[in-house]
Amino acid sequence: MTDAPTITQAPVLALTWRGQNLFQLTILAPPGDWGDPGRLAKLRAWGQPPAGQPLLDRPFSVHRYRPGARELDFLIRVVGPGTQALAQLRPGQTLQITGPLGQGLRRLQPDFPQTPLYLVAGGVGLAPQANLLDQLQAPAHLFYGERRGQALIDHDYLAGLAPNFTAISEDGLGYGQKGQVTEPLLAALNQERRAIFACGPPGLLTALAPVARTYKVPYWASVEAFLACGLGVCLSCSRALTDGSRIRLCQDGPVVDGLTLDWGKP
Ligand SMILES: Cc1cc2nc3c(=O)[nH]c(=O)nc-3n(C[C@H](O)[C@H](O)[C@H](O)COP(=O)(O)OP(=O)(O)OC[C@H]3O[C@@H](n4cnc5c(N)ncnc54)[C@H](O)[C@@H]3O)c2cc1C
Ligand code: FES
Repeated sequence: MTDAPTITQAPVLALTWRGQNLFQLTILAPPGDWGDPGRLAKLRAWGQPPAGQPLLDRPFSVHRYRPGARELDFLIRVVGPGTQALAQLRPGQTLQITGPLGQGLRRLQPDFPQTPLYLVAGGVGLAPQANLLDQLQAPAHLFYGERRGQALIDHDYLAGLAPNFTAISEDGLGYGQKGQVTEPLLAALNQERRAIFACGPPGLLTALAPVARTYKVPYWASVEAFLACGLGVCLSCSRALTDGSRIRLCQDGPVVDGLTLDWGKP
């Protein structure tokens, strides 16, 4: 299967709301290796500026991939003009997709489907976890947190993604527990040590590095950055490693070894 990213128009197959301002967008998958958990695509559902349109395509992690049906899902939270435009799409329309982009977990852990994992998702960091869960053959538990309980994804949809999960929110509203997602994770690590795969806001990903060091478990993180070109050229996504070298998250990530990224440096 080709690994080179392409820019193409893809038909929209479905758009399904999965929670407050949160929708699943299903398109016909262009050729490419979309199954590596953490890989992403840039999407565009608007014309060229000027016309009050965003200049850049917007990056999103692959949520689920069904190669047999050639269906590709994204899980998207509406936060601004680009995601609002994507939310207006209807089946039969097309969008522009560039991808697959970046490296997922497979490069760092080739036998990831056999690895018992704790998956940690903050907010829409839930998106790439499903692509991983769909392939896992080892025990897994998903810890999924939102700041506001009302922002939690639809309970039944989540239960369909993850056989074992803990949902949690800081205000305790909705169906989840009250607290922070690291709390049940620490309790689980005290019972059984497993590798961690995480995606979410920078504060969460940063906090998990000392946790992984303390418990001496591998830690893989899917890191968000401002992606301009997405092709390794503009360096807008450059991040420092602890050895002083730098990586481009759009090429060398977004999934990185969370024990080698320098979380204190931009
Ligand atoms: C690797 C990666 C994976 C992501 N995966 C998902 C996902 O699966 N689901 C999801 O809902 N969101 C995801 N995002 C975030 C998503 O890209 C932004 O929410 C989206 O770009 C916002 O666009 P907007 O026009 O709606 O909002 P804006 O008002 O333009 O921006 C809202 C926020 O998004 C950020 N943003 C805008 N443009 C970019 C860009 N080119 N690159 C990075 N951040 C940008 C802004 O800095 C701002 O903080 C991901 C981001 C990255 C970098
Ligand atoms: S987004 Fe341009 S180099 Fe990564």
